[in-house]
Amino acid sequence: MRVNHVGEVCAQALYSAQALGCRNPELKAQFLQAGREELDHLAWTADRLRELGDRPSWLNPLWYLGAFAIGSAAARLGEATSLGFMKETETQVEQHLASHLTRLPAHDGASRAIVEQMKSDEASHALQAQALGAAPLPDAAKGAMRWAARLMTRTAHWV
Ligand SMILES: [Fe+2]
Ligand SMILES: [Fe+2]
Repeated sequence: MRVNHVGEVCAQALYSAQALGCRNPELKAQFLQAGREELDHLAWTADRLRELGDRPSWLNPLWYLGAFAIGSAAARLGEATSLGFMKETETQVEQHLASHLTRLPAHDGASRAIVEQMKSDEASHALQAQALGAAPLPDAAKGAMRWAARLMTRTAHWV
């Protein structure tokens, strides 16, 4: 759950940075709206962490800054690429949540409900990015994002 919470901290940073770097007011509003929807995820994961007697990652400020830098870079590459980045991020998060569901204990209904709802929300964010005109990202970029996500999830598991 700590890993999922870190992911949502990053989602806030990414959407804020992408909104800030976007010059098209309509698209900016879409990024801000998606960011607001992610606030629920941030709250659910934070609450569940507390209920489980666990703590958030100590490195959250670092994750936030890193994700903000990546979001700003994506925004600078233009609208279609920024949307392509949003789509790929959401797709990868959805895949992570799907694999997390297979590892969550069957009796932990509260965690499962949160992860299932988030998975479905992230899938609709990916579709939304697609509908807004996401450009396909090069495989190298997708691979780099997977690598960064793996670094984040492995680290957040411990710290
Ligand atoms: Fe989310
Ligand atoms: Fe999302």
